[in-house]
Amino acid sequence: MSFKPTKNIWFNGELVPWEDAKVHVLSYALHYGSAVFEGIRAYKTQDGTKIFRLKEHTKRLLNSAKIYRMKVPFNLEEIMNACKLTVTSNDLNNGAYIRPIVFRGYGDLGLHASLDEEVETVIAAWEWGTYLGSEALNDGVDVCISSWSKIAPNTIPVMAKASGNYLSGTLVAFEAKENGYDEGICLDSNGMVSEGAGENVFLVKDDIIYTPPLSSSILDGITRDSVIKIADSLGYSVFEKEIPREQLYLADELFFTGTAAEITPIKSVDRLVIANGTKGPVTDQIQKVFFGLFDGTVSDEWGWLDSVE
Ligand SMILES: Cc1ncc(COP(=O)(O)O)c(C=O)c1O
Repeated sequence: MSFKPTKNIWFNGELVPWEDAKVHVLSYALHYGSAVFEGIRAYKTQDGTKIFRLKEHTKRLLNSAKIYRMKVPFNLEEIMNACKLTVTSNDLNNGAYIRPIVFRGYGDLGLHASLDEEVETVIAAWEWGTYLGSEALNDGVDVCISSWSKIAPNTIPVMAKASGNYLSGTLVAFEAKENGYDEGICLDSNGMVSEGAGENVFLVKDDIIYTPPLSSSILDGITRDSVIKIADSLGYSVFEKEIPREQLYLADELFFTGTAAEITPIKSVDRLVIANGTKGPVTDQIQKVFFGLFDGTVSDEWGWLDSVE
């Protein structure tokens, strides 16, 4: 991801110029990975800029903070309003990626010391296109099964979207890139399919849709939830169930979901081509509803779009 700096960043309750939004090198989070964050997309629509599932993302941010016992000095509504403000104040009328982050700041570096200290809350937003390449949404991506397993459930809680989790995610993503793939998928500590470095995984077989359950050490993805609801509205059965690796190879269709990746078809796994290696009809149908929410061809029956004004 490369970003073009915007005018300002929301920093503990006020907008500061982009270049002044700095923290001390002895900040707790830098040393111990104690930050929780979100990735949220705003889309340009015919009715102005809308943020996709802002409330659910903000709730997940506060839940991630709760798991790590961080006392966030802003409530749900204040953070939601601040997200909107970062979009409007930076004139991001063509859509944006919004990155709220809550972290333990500068004060004390003893592991126990920060529990009662206040945390910092920052929200930035910038323009951001497709995550896995501009062709990926249509043509699909080549993925591998990573040699790195997903963090086990009794080590680090994956339901918290915490910066530290992405030590694992970056190993998976870097390994995949170095070996000529677009992305890597992790198996969980039981050897079942978990998720991509930054995406949830879906499989289609005989017109039935499957995705790994929360017990497969996945992030409880908001796009995943949206796709389950969209698929249901299209009349598909969706099952959350454990998926063995080889079931990926034999799928009719595979796709990733995520705020960054949106809905990206997977065309091969470990160099084995999935079906005929093109975007499948179920993936296409779900994509059309998802993107239709933003281009106005699908009405927002779920109430997922929040106006920034
Ligand atoms: C590890 C991981 N899994 C799944 C997802 C997809 O989650 P969401 O759809 O809420 O963006 C993400 C992206 O945030 C992620 O980082």
